[in-house]
Amino acid sequence: MDTLAVIRRLAEEQGALVAAHTYQAPEIQNAADIVGDSYALAKRAAETDAAVVYMCGVRFMAEGVKILAPDKRVVLVEPEADCPMARQIDPARVAEFRAAHPEYAVVAYINTTAELKAVSDVCVTSSSALKIVRSLPQKDILFIPDKNLGDYVRRQVPEKHIVTWEGYCPVHNAVTAADVLAAKARHPQAKVAMHPECPPEALELADMAGSTAAIIDYIREGGSGGEEVIVATERGVVDRLDARYPGRLHQLCEDKLVCPDMKRTTLQSLLAAMESRGGEEIRLGEKLADAARRSLENMLRYGG
Ligand code: 13P
Ligand code: SF4
Repeated sequence: MDTLAVIRRLAEEQGALVAAHTYQAPEIQNAADIVGDSYALAKRAAETDAAVVYMCGVRFMAEGVKILAPDKRVVLVEPEADCPMARQIDPARVAEFRAAHPEYAVVAYINTTAELKAVSDVCVTSSSALKIVRSLPQKDILFIPDKNLGDYVRRQVPEKHIVTWEGYCPVHNAVTAADVLAAKARHPQAKVAMHPECPPEALELADMAGSTAAIIDYIREGGSGGEEVIVATERGVVDRLDARYPGRLHQLCEDKLVCPDMKRTTLQSLLAAMESRGGEEIRLGEKLADAARRSLENMLRYGG
């Protein structure tokens, strides 16, 4: 039996759900029960009846499911897979800020550790940030950790006063305006769809900004008018969709837009986790999980 067939048999025997982020390699996405952006993964994996969840993604994604569904056994398939942005801000600094500025809402991107979620009021993802920030009663907002996503939200929601600190995704932040202009010169008829983790000077050249799921909808549902699309996010999206839309998709910066942490997961490491030879079961202290749950539940409440 091939590896994929063994994985599917084990998932069925264990009553387990295999969840994969859209940046995972195509063979991992094909092996999964659900594939989605970080919002969809948090919501759907926590809501499922499955007692066990194997997360093919990075640590904060597995932690998010464990926080929302503490009775499930949640296994991070690759224990070393961690989003560097998730720990760029010290939770003690946020706690200090809160004490000094009680009028501020602290909004944490979901790409954060449980410790950072625990000192925040609400989490957002790139697909829900605009809606959630608009719905908050507070005018003053500290947005952590991604300064680029925070800047994008600030431009789209000018009625709020948004403070950002120095945090960024090392993969998306490497995109430059020159990269986008060069891709447009090569494909003048193509639209540009970009993740808002990219820097503002690149983002302002895009036709559309959105989460990985929004970019996929844009390609699929013809927001792009069926035209060619320059895709400015981690290459997992194009690697999976290219065969379905031959000649329509152009990966921006093929060499730079690769997240090494997302690419750690392989079919072999998924199999090893399912056979209890690898992976890491997520365990969080009750007090930490309870504090972090509040901000994730607020995300689901405001984000719909
Ligand atoms: P999404 O919320 O679009 O899935 O993005 C997650 C992420 O890590 C982007 O780099
Ligand atoms: Fe983190 Fe960036 Fe990788 Fe997303 S692409 S998981 S934000 S390092």
